[in-house]
Amino acid sequence: MMKMKKDKGTYYISTPIYYPSSNLHIGHTYCTVMADAMARFKRLSGYDVHFLTGTDEHGQKIQTAAEAAGMTPQAYVDQIVDGIKDLWETMEISNDDFIRTTEDRHQKRVKQLFMRMYEKGDIYKGEYEGLYCTPCESFWTENQLVNGACPDCGRPVQEAKEGAYFFKLSKYSQALLNLFETNPNFLQPDTRRNEMIAFINQGLEDLCISRSTFDWGIKVPLDEKHVIYVWLDALANYITALGWPDEPALYDKYWPADVHLVGKEIVRFHSIIWPAMLMSADLPLPKQVRGHGWLLIDGGKMSKSKGNIVDPVKLIERYGIDALKYFLLREYSFGQDGIFTNEIMLKRMNYDLANDLGNLVSRTVSMIEKYCGGVIPAAGVGTDNPALLETDKDLTEIAISAAAKVEEQMDKFQFNLAIEEIWILVRRANKYIDENTPWVLAKDEACKERLDAVLHNLAESLRIISLLIHPYMHTTAEEIRKQLGIGATEILWDDAFVFNRLDGQKVSKGDPIFPRLDIDKELAELEAMKGTPKSDNIPLELKPEIDFETFDKLDMRVGTVISAERHPKADKLLVFQVKMGTEKRQILSGVSEFFKPEDFIGKNVIVVANLKPRKLKGMESKGMLLFADNVVDGQLRFEMVTTVAEDGNPVT
Ligand code: MSP
Repeated sequence: MMKMKKDKGTYYISTPIYYPSSNLHIGHTYCTVMADAMARFKRLSGYDVHFLTGTDEHGQKIQTAAEAAGMTPQAYVDQIVDGIKDLWETMEISNDDFIRTTEDRHQKRVKQLFMRMYEKGDIYKGEYEGLYCTPCESFWTENQLVNGACPDCGRPVQEAKEGAYFFKLSKYSQALLNLFETNPNFLQPDTRRNEMIAFINQGLEDLCISRSTFDWGIKVPLDEKHVIYVWLDALANYITALGWPDEPALYDKYWPADVHLVGKEIVRFHSIIWPAMLMSADLPLPKQVRGHGWLLIDGGKMSKSKGNIVDPVKLIERYGIDALKYFLLREYSFGQDGIFTNEIMLKRMNYDLANDLGNLVSRTVSMIEKYCGGVIPAAGVGTDNPALLETDKDLTEIAISAAAKVEEQMDKFQFNLAIEEIWILVRRANKYIDENTPWVLAKDEACKERLDAVLHNLAESLRIISLLIHPYMHTTAEEIRKQLGIGATEILWDDAFVFNRLDGQKVSKGDPIFPRLDIDKELAELEAMKGTPKSDNIPLELKPEIDFETFDKLDMRVGTVISAERHPKADKLLVFQVKMGTEKRQILSGVSEFFKPEDFIGKNVIVVANLKPRKLKGMESKGMLLFADNVVDGQLRFEMVTTVAEDGNPVT
């Protein structure tokens, strides 16, 4: 039973709304688990919490994926969103609301927000010409590109031109800079804030906020040929879900949000575009945006085509919700990227959960059953041995000071350090058992008082642990309380600061809370479950169709690579000298993570020979080498005709 005094005010926390373009993986789970832990922590410590999550369902990417699946966009997103809702339900995520951007409540309010910005004079019609990254739904300028590709995802961008509506983002440059300077807390961690300040200082351009090349979106009020840019649509969810502006009860209560928790690559949208939109609409800004790092697999982002997606459902089925949540929160340091491997996960589960916590629970409860008839003894001391008195003092102090330390780390979103504070207590309590050897005390009737005192102290420590872990693993917390005979009592955070709550409760031993895992066996089975990715179950997500005339503008030639070396100033780029007939050309390509320069020497490659030359990090590139994504293994390929004549020209 959990009842809380809500006297600390309100706390509104959000996750990003996820794209339902495919099922969610462990990386998305990581973000939601952190938000859930924070929401539970704040509820437990006395806040009236509103926790929002949801799905971002419009945009070209979804429309294209739906078309590829032969479905309407709505039917396509519906089935994926059902899966996402199921995942959060299975994981017992405690969100108070789930917003879908296809819901009426959202769509009508986005239009109202758009009109408010329009009436302010901040939206105008113009023509957009720029470089567009379809997967990220983002337009970029030439100097924002990294190695000629999208700075967020590294994929190629295409030139795009359309009549469109623009938001006067540039008008808010100074106000945004003031925001970052006067309120350093607005965006955390500091590294992200510095990046954003640098981004604004490069010069903010007005933002294109409508699209007319596809129609899966919210129609622009006043001009239904256009749909509203998916990011403007999505960001608005944080207030539309609260009923702004027409049903403002929740909005009045919870806005401004205390924190928007987001991944590092979408910090820019949340800390520049979103505040500017709110400034334009004369609405208060969120109090904070927090950018977390990524979980990386095999040294990079998870991808369907690499076949290295980690499915949280499979891990939950095998190890339980609490073990997975514990691992995600304990292993990674907020704000930094972290490596995910099965081995790291299994070791954490074994060492921290089965060994440290699991053993403490089972040893304490069994000894109370065995030596005290299952009843927690009253507090006492039972010794005048200074060394043992010191162990009591040490354990008590660590136990009653842990809650404040946990709070301090949680204020900084350092989940791993908050949990580490709790494990200092768990490990101290285990050591306390070894120092006081209750099994020896139990053999001597004269030591009964000391034995009682020791077991009481252990039960108290465990009670405090059950409170402290509640935000991160509530089922385990409740199981421990059940075993301690206090399962039906209220869970109050304030009880974590005192060491005198138990006397006479009847314990009842349960199954081990975390069974020990055979790591080698688990590793082998997890590996076997992965299977080999097959091209026929990987949906092919393509860029929009082009007509033959467009294709025919490309002049493609076979060339021979005479030399290839790394670019002196750009890690990703290789610099090729390619021979085509009488001509020798320098061509740059961002493929150094896939190939070594020597892989190319003497090989034939296909060259787009009439691409406008351009400079990449100070070196000219005349043309482009053709590579293609292999659907099966996610690797890049280039056609290699290995026969080369003595004059260096290809033999056909
Ligand atoms: N729809 C936008 C967000 C709009 S919010 C107004 C979006 N969706 S997303 O599904 O692509 O990503 C949602 C979140 O998941 C992002 O914060 C992103 O950082 C996070 N993650 C996706 N993969 C991740 C990892 N591998 N590791 C950690 N977080 C990751 O962006």
